[in-house]
Amino acid sequence: MIQTIDTPKIRYAVVGVGQISQQAFMPGMARATNSVLSALVTGDPQKARKLAARYGIPAYHYDDLPELLRSGDIDAVYLATPNALHRRYGVPVLEAGLHLLLEKPMATSVADCEALIEAQRRGGGRLMVAYRLHCEPGTVELISRCRNGDFGHLMAFSSTFGQNIAEANHRGHGGYWSGPVPDMGTYPLNAVRNLFAREPVEVHATGSRTPGRHFDFDDTVSVILRFAEGRLAHFLVSYACAPVENLTLVGDRGSVMATPCYTFGPTIGITYTTTIDGRQETRRHDPVEQFGGEIFYFSDCILHGHDPEPDGDEGLRDVRVLAAIERALQTGQPQKLDPIPPARVALPDQIMTFAPVREPEVNEMIGIVPQSA
Ligand SMILES: NC(=O)c1ccc[n+]([C@@H]2O[C@H](COP(=O)([O-])OP(=O)(O)OC[C@H]3O[C@@H](n4cnc5c(N)ncnc54)[C@H](OP(=O)(O)O)[C@@H]3O)[C@@H](O)[C@H]2O)c1
Repeated sequence: MIQTIDTPKIRYAVVGVGQISQQAFMPGMARATNSVLSALVTGDPQKARKLAARYGIPAYHYDDLPELLRSGDIDAVYLATPNALHRRYGVPVLEAGLHLLLEKPMATSVADCEALIEAQRRGGGRLMVAYRLHCEPGTVELISRCRNGDFGHLMAFSSTFGQNIAEANHRGHGGYWSGPVPDMGTYPLNAVRNLFAREPVEVHATGSRTPGRHFDFDDTVSVILRFAEGRLAHFLVSYACAPVENLTLVGDRGSVMATPCYTFGPTIGITYTTTIDGRQETRRHDPVEQFGGEIFYFSDCILHGHDPEPDGDEGLRDVRVLAAIERALQTGQPQKLDPIPPARVALPDQIMTFAPVREPEVNEMIGIVPQSA
């Protein structure tokens, strides 16, 4: 994706100026030379004043979102509110014909995902769910190697992703859909769907509440997914443990162990070790600017009239499984999923390798309730 000097820039508004917007999206924009930050939308007057001044852009309140969407001053929105508000703010953006880069998980029900997709169809803009790893070199390389058969027939996947979340953060008290399965489980779920290039057909789940913690949902959850042809996947996610992230992939010719595999930051490079026919090899990918990369990729899709690979359909496929996991936790029973054809998977031409930008310290961010306890 080569950019010429006179390529127009996609003008973005940030809606929901919380931790991820301030820590990663707004700084990462500096690397996306085909994009520019043009407005912010916040409910916090202090953020409106200070961040608008820092970035030299106008600030709007949520009540004024319709006016901003009609203004002609922006082409796209990055939406990073809590998950339960993705539909509320995303639908008007898409209905206005603007483009939407929507944080994961796409929404908190299949019906909400369908409403977003329908709004996009009516408005004619592009919709990308912000799966930053779909532009990350190590992740996309691993997906490609699975497609090439490097590990033989893929049989099993296992992953643990946990951190210690502060109950005061919005994640701590919004029920299942702000809890660890939609928030963190989306990573192993999306990974295994792309690595297997298959969709799960059955879900089992069990959860627990850690003594002494006060979340209003199971803070630690174990999920088993069955795929066609007997493939199995397991992942464990937790809001109540020391930070941990890893995945293991098992084929009949080779295996993969990866860590780190899901997080981002100036020093985090996705790293994995393969064992194929008994020979071990470790690939340590350099840290890249994951947010700048996904912004550049989405803007490039808009400028060239393509649908991004992680589109509304990709977001919906994950939410369909997250909803089945919720039902499995509620009922204690395994949940069947209708077999559906495989999705598109992330391809090497999506890889972006911009150098990481500096990440602001917590005390440089304004009005944040930090997610880490
Ligand atoms: N891709 C990734 O790596 C990644 C990482 C973290 C989070 N995320 C996703 O990004 C989204 C936001 O996460 P975050 O960590 O940035 O959360 P956060 O720090 O709590 O920020 C969310 C922001 O949403 C706005 N908001 C609007 N209505 C709200 C309400 N009723 N309650 C609380 N906040 C409200 C607030 O911004 P204003 O004060 O400006 O109105 C708030 O600061 C989530 O969907 C999450 O899953 C993605």
